[in-house]
Amino acid sequence: MTIIHPTWVFGYGSLIWKQGFPFLDSRPGYISGWARRFWQGSHDHRGLEHDPGRVVTLVAAAGEDCHGRAFLVEPGVFEHLDYREKNGYERILVDIQFETGSVDGVVYRAAENNPAYLGPAPPKEMAQQINRCAGPSGSNREYVLQLARALRGMGYSDPHVFEVESWVLGTEDQVSEEKQ
Ligand code: SIN
Repeated sequence: MTIIHPTWVFGYGSLIWKQGFPFLDSRPGYISGWARRFWQGSHDHRGLEHDPGRVVTLVAAAGEDCHGRAFLVEPGVFEHLDYREKNGYERILVDIQFETGSVDGVVYRAAENNPAYLGPAPPKEMAQQINRCAGPSGSNREYVLQLARALRGMGYSDPHVFEVESWVLGTEDQVSEEKQ
């Protein structure tokens, strides 16, 4: 897909809290029919080839909304983003919903058939992997904690992210007690 005009890119993972690219505008928003999951392996950012970390991707989820932050970027920025997201992610077209209405945009999604895909695992196991792994961009733990913090800062709740965060922090008992 060749992009020739400024385009909205929807961020739901590291793009929310770590840009490192120029943007013309930025707004909180959501995409419908998708859920965020720590099901993608990271060999090049938050883990290593022989010990991949876990980062988020999108899974189809009818009736659910995935909240994040969208950025309006010049076409040239996609070169940087395509490189950054090269470990299994592909651009797909999405409707991004803002308070003021919706816009056409793109999102980077790592599909189930990419070589780095890990899929689901019990939260305890995911947290053990996350606490162990690190890569050229930093620790996998930082990725999870920063994402959870950024979502909270925007007033969003994501039960999957917050559950994994609680296991990473070792506070899962408090979260399950709060739920009762
Ligand atoms: C995103 O942030 O939108 C894509 C996934 C990631 O880089 O963490």
